[in-house]
Amino acid sequence: VGDSLRKILTEQRVVIAIGAGGVGKTTSSIAMSVQAAKLGRRVGLISIDPAKRLAAALGIGLTGELKALNLGAEFKGTIHAAMLDQNAVFGSMVDRFAKDGKQAEKIKQHRFYQAASENLAGALEFMALAKLGDMIESAQFDLIVVDTPPDAHAVDFLARPDTLSRFIDNKVTNVLLKPFALAQKFGLGSLLRTGEKLMGGMAKVTGMAALQMMAEFILLMQDVLSGFNQAGKRVQSVLRSPDCSFVLVTALRRGVESSAVQMRNVLKEMEHDVDAVIVNRVIPAAIRKDVLSMMDIDSADLKAIHSAAQLQSSILQNLRKSFPSVPVVEVPEQNQSIDGIDAIHHSFAVLI
Ligand SMILES: Nc1ncnc2c1ncn2[C@@H]1O[C@H](COP(=O)(O)OP(=O)(O)O)[C@@H](O)[C@H]1O
Ligand SMILES: [Mg+2]
Repeated sequence: VGDSLRKILTEQRVVIAIGAGGVGKTTSSIAMSVQAAKLGRRVGLISIDPAKRLAAALGIGLTGELKALNLGAEFKGTIHAAMLDQNAVFGSMVDRFAKDGKQAEKIKQHRFYQAASENLAGALEFMALAKLGDMIESAQFDLIVVDTPPDAHAVDFLARPDTLSRFIDNKVTNVLLKPFALAQKFGLGSLLRTGEKLMGGMAKVTGMAALQMMAEFILLMQDVLSGFNQAGKRVQSVLRSPDCSFVLVTALRRGVESSAVQMRNVLKEMEHDVDAVIVNRVIPAAIRKDVLSMMDIDSADLKAIHSAAQLQSSILQNLRKSFPSVPVVEVPEQNQSIDGIDAIHHSFAVLI
């Protein structure tokens, strides 16, 4: 999609940052948002990074609400950022998909609600997709940037087109229905025990009451679950559309070419392409060139820099060979901390 990152940030509707942990994915997500805002776009930035770096770097809370960031006067565009919190997004999705306000209230007041919103493994990824769907549908944003959790998790939530329905089928209903299945297998005693566990420290209810409550909760959740499902399908189709780009962020260590290629293959299986590569923390090309052209290298320091430059140049060359048709952007290593919008803006100016 785009022969430069600038083009991607100017034209795309959704940009998803993927890559291993600790390589600068969250920082790059912020940086891409900042550069896009500089290009005049209204950017929505969401993070599901459990490291919660986005919130820390930008000084925003963990409420799951989109907050406007303060940008300098040179920015024509805007950034609204949110650090997704599972419970908060779950709540807002219930509000959105319940039949009416009364039903939403009933669901939230239900004794199983807390357990359902807290105990769903993988729910945060799912919620991020749901939130993304919301943001895509609202006319508030031109570009939505998604920062993902480290490693495999990053693509888990994109898995197959039916992921979301499977999520609903397996995760939500499993959590709710598991006690029933267990009860069938092991008798009512186990139902009571899992029922109790689900309800945490809440007042104990008798076996029949627990059964009734679960049935009631599942019934109440019907609209919400099918709403989740439909929203999920819409998001999947946007993610597959040419309006969505995946940007692979990587560090510059030995072996990154193969892990980058591996990541690309995983995406490919899901019918997604890598549209750009950000190589973070490199020795700037000009310095590499100078160092590599030096004739006599006497000090140990120089030797170290020389071999680092050599290694980096060869890794970069291989990366470019592995990703011949997409932009590969080098971001220099900064020697001071790059927290905050200004620092990120300047450190990642090369992106556009
Ligand atoms: N180009 C860079 N130069 C120096 N430090 C960087 C650079 N990019 C990122 N960092 C630092 O690396 C750390 C990890 O970055 P982060 O964006 O949280 O990584 P990830 O989201 O991939 O785990 C942060 O402390 C960040 O400030
Ligand atoms: Mg991160």
